[in-house]
Amino acid sequence: KENKLWGGRFEQTVTDKVEKFTESISFDKELYKHDIMGSKAHASMLAKQGLIGESDRDSILKGLDEIQRNIEAGEFEWREDREDVHMNIEAALTEMIGEPAKKLHTARSRNDQVLTDFKLWCRDAIDRIVASIKNLQVALVKLALNNEGLIVPGYTHLQRAQPVLLPHLLLAYVEQLERDAGRLLDCKVRMNFCPLGACALAGTGLPIDRFMTSDALGFTAPMRNSIDAVSDRDFVLEFLSANSITAIHLSRLGEEWVLWASEEFGFITPSDSVSTGSSIMPQKKNPDPMELVRGKSARVIGDLVTLLTLCKGLPLAYNRDLQEDKEPVFDSIKTVVGMLEVSAEFAQNITFNQERIQKSLPAGHLDATTLADYLGLPFRTAHEIVGTCVHLCVSRNLRLEDLTLDDLKRISPAFHQDVYEYLGVENAINKFRSYGSTGAACVAKQLDYWVTKFGIS
Ligand code: ARG
Repeated sequence: KENKLWGGRFEQTVTDKVEKFTESISFDKELYKHDIMGSKAHASMLAKQGLIGESDRDSILKGLDEIQRNIEAGEFEWREDREDVHMNIEAALTEMIGEPAKKLHTARSRNDQVLTDFKLWCRDAIDRIVASIKNLQVALVKLALNNEGLIVPGYTHLQRAQPVLLPHLLLAYVEQLERDAGRLLDCKVRMNFCPLGACALAGTGLPIDRFMTSDALGFTAPMRNSIDAVSDRDFVLEFLSANSITAIHLSRLGEEWVLWASEEFGFITPSDSVSTGSSIMPQKKNPDPMELVRGKSARVIGDLVTLLTLCKGLPLAYNRDLQEDKEPVFDSIKTVVGMLEVSAEFAQNITFNQERIQKSLPAGHLDATTLADYLGLPFRTAHEIVGTCVHLCVSRNLRLEDLTLDDLKRISPAFHQDVYEYLGVENAINKFRSYGSTGAACVAKQLDYWVTKFGIS
């Protein structure tokens, strides 16, 4: 067995079971690029501060580049007995360049190293998610553009409420996603402080320059407190919280589209390319992708809960438990990016069944609230009067617009001939004018905002 990098004080090597149980290379090799980036910044700083020679630095930098090429060519041998990504790369560097490699870990611990790597990785991951969010937003805006005048029933309690324009509804999801991206970017700002140089927990007596490494790696500044630096995982908790909120939004979108694709609603038809069949029922065509978007939100929440639970009992500073933080993060990010991409693809592959939607609009008295506004009476009085009208319609199986002026006048003398300009979903929708409302002009403004923002032509 190879001597461990920490082997000096040990008389025995670890058992195979312990080695297998404690390794993290099987998953943290994901961090290789950022580990190399961090090591290069560290080596350059050590040389600048006179802690290592310039030729040492040069062979370290050259060796690390070579290792990165090997990894990317699939020629690097990841070894479980070398525990994690940091020690795999360091040991390989030592094999490759000899003595200078042994100086790289000067004024550094794996505790600050792993966090530096992880923060760099998370920063990139946030950019990836934000790009996928935008991609879905664009797909939704385009769907809105293609269905500009389409009126659909708006629901509260999943009961028919008021008529809305379909773009209005789709843009509600675009707004949610915009806040999701904002939350991730806020989180990145708070995350972007550099732990490198905190060493094991207490910092170092060597004359390092933490500002130099922080700058080189694109951080805002070094973290102020070395103990905080190696024990902090709130950046991960915040990241996964933001990610979970995004997942929840996508899950709600998934639920809506699954409902809309049902025979009962029949609002949308997903194309075959985003549907799957049944192994027993030959007629089935299921919206599985959006069901799985809904379903996978569960694991994203689970990943957050895993990390919250992981952190809840930990004393300062670094504890090995923290190694368990990687897999839930990797899983959460991979899952959310997948959910975003599939939702966008689904959005590009559905058609709205205009005729079917149109036919369904007369049901549910969607124009009742507009009728109450028409009366110009104290609202509670108007509510009562229109309630009586609806009651009459229900007993006679009529729409509000089917009531005669006599019927209406018997209920209230405040009704006049012009009432018919307020009845029916089309009339009703034309009456909306408040900022952010479903009136055609208001929705057009919203749509304009997004079209300009995303440069959609
Ligand atoms: N693989 C470890 C992790 O992911 C690196 C830090 C190990 N530090 C230590 N003192 N054992 O957390």
